[in-house]
Amino acid sequence: MTAAVAAPDQVVLVVDFGAQYAQLIARRVRECNVYSEIIANDLSAEDIAEMKPAALILSGGPASVHVEGAPRLDPEIFALGIPILGICYGAQLIAHQLGGTVGRNERGEYGRTTMARTADGGQLLNFCPDEWTVWMSHFDAITEVPEGFTSVASSPNAPIAALESKERRIYGVQHHPEVVHSEHGQEVLRHFLYELAECQPTWTMASVVEESVAAIKNQLGERGRAICGLSGGVDSAVAAALVHKAIGHRLTCVYVDTGLMRRGESEQVVETFQRSQGIELIHVRAADRFFEHLEGVTEPEAKRKVIGEQFIRVFERAQGGIEDARYLVQGTLYPDVIESGTSTAAKIKSHHNVGGLPEDLEFELVEPLRNLFKDEVRAVGSELGLPDEIVWRQPFPGPGLGVRIIGEITPESVEILQHADAIVREEIIGAGLDRKIWQYFAVLADIRSVGVMGDERTYARPVIIRAVTSDDAMTADWARLPYELLEKMSNRIINEVDGVNRVAYDITSKPPGTIEWE
Ligand code: XMP
Repeated sequence: MTAAVAAPDQVVLVVDFGAQYAQLIARRVRECNVYSEIIANDLSAEDIAEMKPAALILSGGPASVHVEGAPRLDPEIFALGIPILGICYGAQLIAHQLGGTVGRNERGEYGRTTMARTADGGQLLNFCPDEWTVWMSHFDAITEVPEGFTSVASSPNAPIAALESKERRIYGVQHHPEVVHSEHGQEVLRHFLYELAECQPTWTMASVVEESVAAIKNQLGERGRAICGLSGGVDSAVAAALVHKAIGHRLTCVYVDTGLMRRGESEQVVETFQRSQGIELIHVRAADRFFEHLEGVTEPEAKRKVIGEQFIRVFERAQGGIEDARYLVQGTLYPDVIESGTSTAAKIKSHHNVGGLPEDLEFELVEPLRNLFKDEVRAVGSELGLPDEIVWRQPFPGPGLGVRIIGEITPESVEILQHADAIVREEIIGAGLDRKIWQYFAVLADIRSVGVMGDERTYARPVIIRAVTSDDAMTADWARLPYELLEKMSNRIINEVDGVNRVAYDITSKPPGTIEWE
């Protein structure tokens, strides 16, 4: 199983000491047009030397260097001559492993603080003002630099807030330059990459497209068809468009209409792919089959299972009719790759095997987005000329509206939810908030409450509006929507959607909630 993934010549490796920090750093490096990848912290110096990185960045992390079993770096890595920047825990590790001291019982610093550079600021911070505001999150602090290092900044509770060794090309900062609350943060990263590690800003969306197309051509050779299941979401759309650019008519897309799609979704998929992009598309109308199998099923995981199984059956039947199909295109993204690499991630919902495809299909996988973050996928989509309605689509779960209808899924409940959801989407777009909010949708609960409309008593179901802000769906906050907008959505839903007499707004963040209701 090979993946058609472009491999740029120059890579900066972000050593992961705490997944959330590492991802953010990797994204910031890429924003400097330098390709970066995240690697585990237990790789040996040999492994790293083989990858020939242009630089290493050691991420922050929740551990203390003094705790037994705290992650360390293979000490030989420091001797490879590769430029290194340590951030927070990464900086403390440099001090600790190279012979400096990290103090334990100092007072920590959390949140905004002022950092002051030394008179010259060393090589790392010489372009910064004398003092500036940064974001810190540490308890331990470096108290003594290793031999050959100098301290180049301090803060109220971190006497050595930055250190460096010009000779060894090793640098460290106690603060988090990757977070937006740190002034000059992106500049510190850029300065390290361009000036100290001599990276070239060559990684652009145009280069990603070009390299991906070449990698796909290389993987797929001259023969055999590729199949791509379209969900209507941005990932499968961009993956399909990339593969289409590489192999043209040898791609067939399959779109399974489960009956659990949003209003207007199927028409839009057919319009975009078949008519505008000229991609061969098989549109399978399978709603009846899904409703039949979902009858009486109410438990969330059971629903996912039914939907997943039926999806596979329908898909298999469609692909069975495609001659010489050898490749299966999937829109797997980098966070999924990182996530599946961590053994500790607890299973909260059985996400990616639902609405996805079975592992025993006899295809070679083509995963051209494996190295990309979501925002980069959108940028690639735009670069490929996909319309905004596809590129800026909010993420949509594989089981579709099935996980937004609490209780039994019936054609009637789907219709109610489709209508309410269309209103929520229309109003959010109308208010110009659609690109600011990660996901926004309606949920239909299976309870009834009493209301009064005109002179009539009503006894009907409530719709819950869910709108969240997020960077990656791992954590999310409920969106602070304007009251007027909530009022408008509520009025419209109650007046226009039969079977609904109450609207609620979900003000739960993730954690402790999840984005979807099931
Ligand atoms: P939760 O609800 O776990 O969702 O906070 C996180 C993100 O994943 C999407 N999601 C799914 N995607 N199959 C998918 O392909 C699923 O079964 C599924 N469940 C949730 C959800 O929309 C959000 O973006």
